[in-house]
Amino acid sequence: MERQPKPEFFHILRTQQFDRAILDELCELTTAIRKFAKTKEGLLYLRGLLAHKRAMLYFTQPSTRTFLSFNNACQILGIQTSEIRDSATSSEVKGESLLDSLRTFSSYVDVVVMRTNAEGLAENAASLFDHIQRRVPIINAGSGKDQHPTQALLDIYTLERSFKENGGIDGKTIGMMGDLKRGRTVRSLCYLMKNYRNVRLVFIAPDDFAMGEDIKKSLQSHGVQYQETKDLKSVLPQLDAIYITRIQDEHDKAGESKQVDISAYKLGVDHLKLMKPAAVIMHPLPRRDEIHPDVDTDPRAKYWRQERNGMWMRVAIFVKLFKVDHLVMHGHLLD
Ligand code: NCD
Repeated sequence: MERQPKPEFFHILRTQQFDRAILDELCELTTAIRKFAKTKEGLLYLRGLLAHKRAMLYFTQPSTRTFLSFNNACQILGIQTSEIRDSATSSEVKGESLLDSLRTFSSYVDVVVMRTNAEGLAENAASLFDHIQRRVPIINAGSGKDQHPTQALLDIYTLERSFKENGGIDGKTIGMMGDLKRGRTVRSLCYLMKNYRNVRLVFIAPDDFAMGEDIKKSLQSHGVQYQETKDLKSVLPQLDAIYITRIQDEHDKAGESKQVDISAYKLGVDHLKLMKPAAVIMHPLPRRDEIHPDVDTDPRAKYWRQERNGMWMRVAIFVKLFKVDHLVMHGHLLD
């Protein structure tokens, strides 16, 4: 049988760039990395894998999990890091354009991980980098209300692991609830659903926060079924997973989110009895009150595991990006 060429990527900008082969490969790699991380010997092996690389973490939008998980992923692999977390501390205040600043980072490091408020900036930076001598990869760690591709990858991993004994993501009904309009996590995740067979999406949101037309068009063009509703209780029994998001009011122009009644878009303990016994509850976090803290002890609540998976998936991303995946997949500890 002819061997398929291995899928590769350079920049990570938006989830449309991923196909099933690379998604499966990243998931396998993440699982293999987690096995290494179970022992001191394995952790020391991982720490030597990319000790010759340096990363820039440019996060000018608030971040806890994404920043810390990228930072810790770097530490796990021995990658040295530099960081900017506030543009007020960079030469942008002297009037340097952001693209010039990004080009400067490329002079010093081997990969730039960036989170900014600006949609499309990671793409612009990537096209600039593609035309300069020192071409380094850009990883989009969240671009405004548009995309959050690495979050979608860790979400796929969490879904696949949760459905491991149950046929994986194929054939599942996945609910998404909350601010679907401005939630970059759900938007990015939707684009990946075309890679799975017979997935059905159920969008649960008030009109003001309904899923964008761009995403719905894309789902239609790839034959992914979806339905929209405002009634959580009526759809809960059908769902294999529910992915809940917070209202993204940092994108409000003048506090308009406060005018919307969101009381019906919260998950409490009373909802749990309506859900399938093997259903999965996810949230990219941070949460406010859209999931009651008492839900945390239900075995179906996977969001804290999802958060930790983020670190392992980001290790896998660096491993793949710097082409040392064979050293993990065929590493001595797995022999
Ligand atoms: C999300 C984000 O920043 O888009 N958080 C995260 O990266 N885990 C979701 C959110 O802030 O609501």
